[in-house]
Amino acid sequence: MKAAQISGYGGQEVLKVTADAPQPTAAKGQVLVEVRSAGVNPFDITVCEGRARQMAELNFPATLGGDFAGVVSELGEGVTGFEVGQDVYGQASPLSGNGSFAELTPVKTTQLAGKPTSIDFTTAAGLPLVSVSAYQALVDHMNLQAGQKILVHGGAGGIGSMAIQLAKHLGTYVATTARTDEADFVKSLGADEVIDYETQDFSELLKDYDAVFDTVGGETNAKSYKILKDGGALVSMLAPPDEALVKQKNLNYTAQFTQVTTERLAKVTELVDQGILKANIDKVFPLDQAAEALEYLKTGHPRGKVVIQIKEVINGVPDET
Ligand SMILES: NC(=O)c1ccc[n+]([C@@H]2O[C@H](COP(=O)([O-])OP(=O)(O)OC[C@H]3O[C@@H](n4cnc5c(N)ncnc54)[C@H](OP(=O)(O)O)[C@@H]3O)[C@@H](O)[C@H]2O)c1
Repeated sequence: MKAAQISGYGGQEVLKVTADAPQPTAAKGQVLVEVRSAGVNPFDITVCEGRARQMAELNFPATLGGDFAGVVSELGEGVTGFEVGQDVYGQASPLSGNGSFAELTPVKTTQLAGKPTSIDFTTAAGLPLVSVSAYQALVDHMNLQAGQKILVHGGAGGIGSMAIQLAKHLGTYVATTARTDEADFVKSLGADEVIDYETQDFSELLKDYDAVFDTVGGETNAKSYKILKDGGALVSMLAPPDEALVKQKNLNYTAQFTQVTTERLAKVTELVDQGILKANIDKVFPLDQAAEALEYLKTGHPRGKVVIQIKEVINGVPDET
């Protein structure tokens, strides 16, 4: 089968497309998915560059990719609740060596759900990790309530663009940090206030916030404590807590490790099909340009998501050419 693989760690130039990758099968508790499109995330770059080696060493050649949307083509032993031919989306294991940048990928049944019916495969492939990250942070960790104020960092990015929409749906006032070029985009998602992270200091402009969602880390994280109320919530996708500050302000701090689960994906499916959450797909690359897709995510300042299309679907029928 066709797949984008690496034979050693390195920059995106080590990612090569082959037509001869062995077909994976569905192990116990997995389904095999015929991938239509695969979403690209910063973690795919991390894996490619060997910066996730402390989590797992890859066996080479390894197929990269986590997020996907596609069609179930085989059920592993003991699988119930899914059927061959079903449209699904979710997360393959990017560290298994059998990721989603391929025509077929094996997926644990705990990490996929029925695809939203109101959107196509390419749009759905942009959702899993970012939408679940936003849902886990705002609903499960922060328990955001209507009338509260939240600052979402990196509002034009994959996770930030989901978080703004979800925060508005929950009835909160939303401030966000983004470049000036992105101001109209983040306002269109529902942001009430936009702070240009290149020219303005959010920590001098905002105060008494109930929550901060940090998708940036570093200095951005360090300055975020200052704008929170006592007892406020800070969820960071990148940074561990400053224990002294957490204690001083009695904060609810979470260093989030996102877990893409069937339950959270099912919530996202509902929100998407109700028209509440929308994935903004910035650019779609064919599988042959998987390396360019990673490079674009790294340097192109995408607005929302970058997706790799594995198989084009025309009028509901996969294009076999
Ligand atoms: N812990 C976990 O389980 C987990 C899971 C998923 C993701 N993550 C991490 O979460 C981070 C965000 O992921 P993502 O998919 O949303 O990435 P993304 O799509 O690349 O978005 C990042 C956004 O941050 C913006 N940004 C950069 N510097 C900024 C600053 N100083 N202030 C405000 N915004 C800034 C970027 O804007 P411009 O491009 O316009 O500069 C971009 O829109 C990544 O580092 C990723 O590795 C962690």
